[in-house]
Amino acid sequence: AVTRTFSIIKPDATRRNLTGGVTKMLEEAGLRVVASKRIQMTKEQAEGFYAVHKERPFFSDLVSFMISGPVVVQVLEGEDAVKRNRDVMGATNPADAAEGTIRKTYAESIEANSVHGSDSDENAAIEIAYFFKPEEIVG
Ligand code: CMP
Repeated sequence: AVTRTFSIIKPDATRRNLTGGVTKMLEEAGLRVVASKRIQMTKEQAEGFYAVHKERPFFSDLVSFMISGPVVVQVLEGEDAVKRNRDVMGATNPADAAEGTIRKTYAESIEANSVHGSDSDENAAIEIAYFFKPEEIVG
């Protein structure tokens, strides 16, 4: 089925002017950008977004990284969008990511890994609603 997922182009990628490069790989993987905006996340926004990780040892570094520069938040639409996006992103750690994936191509480290993507349809809906109003999404 055609579904939606949520994506973030992270500060390591925007800093290196890779918004287009990342988006091109998403599009070539069969995903369509149906909403997109470049924002500077606040600390509170980043902490709320990553609340599920708040007990993890990397949490405070992750929040600092995510507010270290602009990000591009996007809603992506396509056949089986969550899985399609996770396949093109590659493994969280770029050292483990397959050839041809976004993280293998662009990521700098497990933290500065260029993109975030929702891990389930349920989380996609929550994450999309965290950043977008319904009328900002145009399919
Ligand atoms: P993301 O998919 O955005 O979800 C949580 C993020 O935490 C992850 O990508 C990484 O950028 C970051 N992170 C940093 N260290 C780790 C780690 N050891 N394991 C998992 N994620 C990590």
